Amino acid sequence: MCGIVGYIGHREAYPIILKGLKRLEYRGYDSAGIALFDGNDIKLSKTKGKVADLEEKVGKEIPTSATLGIGHTRWATHGVPNDVNSHPHYSNSGNLVIIHNGIIENYESLKKELIKRGYVFKSDTDTEVLVNLIEDVKKNENIKLGKAVQIALNQVIGAYAIAVFDKNKPNEIVVARLGSPLAIGIGDDEFFIASDASPFIEYTKNAIYLEDEEMAVIRRDKGVKVRKIKDDSLVDPYVQELQLNLEQIEKGGYDHFMLKEIFEQPSAIRDTFRGRMLPNEGIIKMSGIEDNMKTFLNANRIIVIACGTSWHAGLVSEYIFEDLARIPVEVEYASEFRYRNPVITDKDVVIAISQSGETADTLAAIKLAKSRGAFVFGVCNVVGSSIARETDAGAYTHAGPEIGVASTKAFTTQITVLTLIALRLARAKGTISSSEFRHHMIELELIPEKVKKALESDAYVKTIADIYKNSKNFLYLGRGYNFPVALEGALKLKEISYIHAEGYPAAEMKHGPIALIDENMPIVVIATKKGHYEKVVSNIQEIKSRKGKIIGIVTEGDEQVRALADHVIEVPETIESLTPLLTTIPLQLLSYHIALMLEKNVDQPRNLAKAVTVE
Ligand code: G6P
Repeated sequence: MCGIVGYIGHREAYPIILKGLKRLEYRGYDSAGIALFDGNDIKLSKTKGKVADLEEKVGKEIPTSATLGIGHTRWATHGVPNDVNSHPHYSNSGNLVIIHNGIIENYESLKKELIKRGYVFKSDTDTEVLVNLIEDVKKNENIKLGKAVQIALNQVIGAYAIAVFDKNKPNEIVVARLGSPLAIGIGDDEFFIASDASPFIEYTKNAIYLEDEEMAVIRRDKGVKVRKIKDDSLVDPYVQELQLNLEQIEKGGYDHFMLKEIFEQPSAIRDTFRGRMLPNEGIIKMSGIEDNMKTFLNANRIIVIACGTSWHAGLVSEYIFEDLARIPVEVEYASEFRYRNPVITDKDVVIAISQSGETADTLAAIKLAKSRGAFVFGVCNVVGSSIARETDAGAYTHAGPEIGVASTKAFTTQITVLTLIALRLARAKGTISSSEFRHHMIELELIPEKVKKALESDAYVKTIADIYKNSKNFLYLGRGYNFPVALEGALKLKEISYIHAEGYPAAEMKHGPIALIDENMPIVVIATKKGHYEKVVSNIQEIKSRKGKIIGIVTEGDEQVRALADHVIEVPETIESLTPLLTTIPLQLLSYHIALMLEKNVDQPRNLAKAVTVE
């Protein structure tokens, strides 16, 4: 997974590409590179490290007059992160240069063939194989670059978003996509290429999102020509007007994207239900549900597929769907589901949850479910993403761009959308009364204000973070709706502070984790008034008698847990099904502050990436 950027037009390409790469670092950040055409030749610079390292390396050497170029920020798949494996990659002749996001699965057999024909390889990457394959096709058939790219891609198995240019034809860039996103920004006699629209949003609001198996030849003089890679047919591309603005993408005054995104949750949650829920009229309307109501009502069960934090949101939805709509739910890791031989029928509804809409395992699981006749509904954040397009219908979370690798607002907005769906289905099935239905909506409408209130614990959470920042292990416990929140709290801590943490159903504690408890073990216990409160209080007593340090997440005004715990963090009261939207807030803040105090890179934790587009 990587970020790609390109420019062809009349402005200086370097600053546009550099800034674009910085905005795309959430897609990968182990190396970066750039190739510019200076009027005579290609000037290429690349390095292991971040875009800032590239900027330093490039220094003053770069030809500022260049008006055509491509850049790349990498997350390694083939070959360790180092200078040589960084993109862009030259072809053997030095005429072609390429950037690539994705993975060429049959690169070894292609490489063997090319070696037989005299090609030599400097890097370990699949990408260098692809650029030489293109060169080989071009040379043998004596054809234009676009055609050569097309023929080469028809020999390739895998996923890609590529941009390639030829120094002998410096008026065009050829791009293509299969499985990795690629957007083309359309300006006045200038064109931008990027993995998403953030690198070019200040230059143009018009963009074409290439579909899978499409390629485009972008010419300074003639514009964009889109074709199908397989059959060469011309495509009339849909030019979208973008709704994103730059401020949404940048940090907005916060030190980190993660913190900004945590504090955005009141508005993000509101944006999620805005226009879909009308409590006064007793209505929830979501076109993806209305249009397919029969399918939902006839469903024998719902299978939720997702990865990471989205999987935790899926677990919360299991409680909501079963509780409110009385539909049996199974929640599956997409990576397991896709390689099992799952029993799926056309009576199953599959809900795929994904912030990015690009997670490879989730995408593959969707394809499997569809091939077996299931109706697949997507819950995605990124509009126009692969999963959003691959599913039969769906509902966006409308959380806005999430840049911090550790997911925060995506989680709460996913739960919000899933709650709306469950409520709508419950009403249609008659499993809740109209007054209960209305009550849920009124409570949901109050959630943004309550999240704001929960965020006020920030300073206090920071003092707790300071006390426990050097702990080697953490335990997170919750029951019912708050069991997935415990898992999510532990995941957040692991992801950004690299402290080992386990999430557990509180009652399961005595079947193992209790052995770990001593006076050095901090244990975060979610103990809100609604939801097995007395049982959780008993669990807290068990911890206390083993001298564990208790951090309780409690309902405002709680006294019982306060009397037992070392610290309590209060959240406002709400109905049980909505408690995860509040209890997760202090857990996000706790992991943020601990990671910061340990001087970890909060937004770009080691080894992780925002969208995992390889399995
Ligand atoms: C990566 C991210 C996680 C995310 C998971 C699923 O591991 O680092 O934050 O939860 O992918 O991503 P998705 O975009 O499908 O929700």
